[in-house]
Amino acid sequence: MTTEPHSLEEQFKAAMRQLATAVNIITTGRGADRCGLTASAVCSLTVTPPMVLICVNHFGEAHRAMLANGTFCVNVLNTEQRFLADMFAGRAGLASAERFTHAQWSELHSGAPALDDALVNIDCRIAERVQTSTHSVFFGAVEAIRFGRPHDPLLHFDHHYFSLATASIG
Ligand SMILES: Cc1cc2nc3c(=O)[nH]c(=O)nc-3n(C[C@H](O)[C@H](O)[C@H](O)COP(=O)(O)O)c2cc1C
Repeated sequence: MTTEPHSLEEQFKAAMRQLATAVNIITTGRGADRCGLTASAVCSLTVTPPMVLICVNHFGEAHRAMLANGTFCVNVLNTEQRFLADMFAGRAGLASAERFTHAQWSELHSGAPALDDALVNIDCRIAERVQTSTHSVFFGAVEAIRFGRPHDPLLHFDHHYFSLATASIG
């Protein structure tokens, strides 16, 4: 039997768990100052000019670093990179630049770390920020894009990771 959530906040969290999303690592900074977080709140905004938006919690290190650097890179993960999703969500006990030692990274235009084997890297300059109670919405002007090898995207739904292993249905 499914237990019904009571408060509107609980209902909202349960509702958001029904959104299947891609899993991304958002990075910023260089060398010892590199940092990043796992994020599903990444959305295409406009094509002309190419822009994305991301939502990042105020309290993490990456938020402060993004404000200071004015840049970020969205690295879209494949199913082999689930361990990186956990690592950059703080689940492996590693912080800051330590998280980058388990994969190969390079840089595109902004200098933010670009994961070498990502499905795609989307390198951005922060054009605008809107602050909410707990998160900032960063609008990123895309400055460079690099495609990786074709692979199954890593998906997230209802607290679990999934693979898009089935054929397209439409
Ligand atoms: C699948 C998944 C999606 C997430 N999406 C976001 C997101 O869009 N924005 C965000 O601020 N945190 C998101 N988080 C949480 C952050 O990854 C996590 O709080 C953060 O990395 C902790 O970083 P810290 O250890 O550097 O403080 C997500 C976590 C997971 C596992």
